[in-house]
Amino acid sequence: MDSFEVNKLIGAFLGTVFVIFTITLLSDSIFATHAPEKPGYAIEAAEAEAGAATGAAESGEDRFVEILAGIGSANPDAGANTFKKCQACHDGTKGGPNKVGPNLWGIVDRPIASHEGFSYSGAMKEFSEGGSKHWTFENLAHFLHGPKAFVPGTAMAFAGVKDPKAESDLLAFLRTLADTPAPLPEAAPAAAAPANGEAAPANGQAAPAAEGAQQPAAGQAEPSK
Ligand code: HEC
Repeated sequence: MDSFEVNKLIGAFLGTVFVIFTITLLSDSIFATHAPEKPGYAIEAAEAEAGAATGAAESGEDRFVEILAGIGSANPDAGANTFKKCQACHDGTKGGPNKVGPNLWGIVDRPIASHEGFSYSGAMKEFSEGGSKHWTFENLAHFLHGPKAFVPGTAMAFAGVKDPKAESDLLAFLRTLADTPAPLPEAAPAAAAPANGEAAPANGQAAPAAEGAQQPAAGQAEPSK
């Protein structure tokens, strides 16, 4: 083997290495993989139940404070429109029948699971604590946002109202289903401030309650009655 042959062999070897390197580099850049920030698949909690279950943690109670504070200035007519969805299962007229769900006349502040002639689920009866709990605006806000999250096992097959404004409107409408509409809710749930249940009965007027609702002092006495 003379030196010329050796050079050829070395040249061929280097050429091969060069080609392999080039291919590796190119394919790396073409099929680049980016490691995700968090390992594993990102699963969006899309469905109502999962969303509602984590809802409180995600958006805190702020969401419900906003909904409750919004009732006074909400639009009951828009709420009446949303209520059409409920009417598949609920009648809202005075003395009206029970359908798939109980009649909802006077629902605000009505004792939970108390409507005559309706056979409530075990879950709802248990939730009512023997009828000692009421459908306060606050309980309604939570229930209508995610029925199954708030009352696990309820027979109400309804995904929930996700938009806070729509929910305020709906609550404002439900409030009208009564001879005497229930007083509007005071500001934040009690957690914020020492309870002062007696305060500001004047807020019960239909006047816009938003200002009243801003004052944290007059929280409702308990989160639920
Ligand atoms: C698919 C039928 C269905 C739809 C739609 C539905 N509900 Fe219900 N609802 C029920 C059933 C059934 C119950 C009884 C639940 C139980 O016993 O667990 C119920 C219970 C309730 C209760 C508790 C009543 C009580 O006396 O304790 C309220 C409040 C309520 N629904 C409001 C609404 C509103 C407001 C809507 C519309 C946004 C709505 N529901 C949509 C079927 C429905």
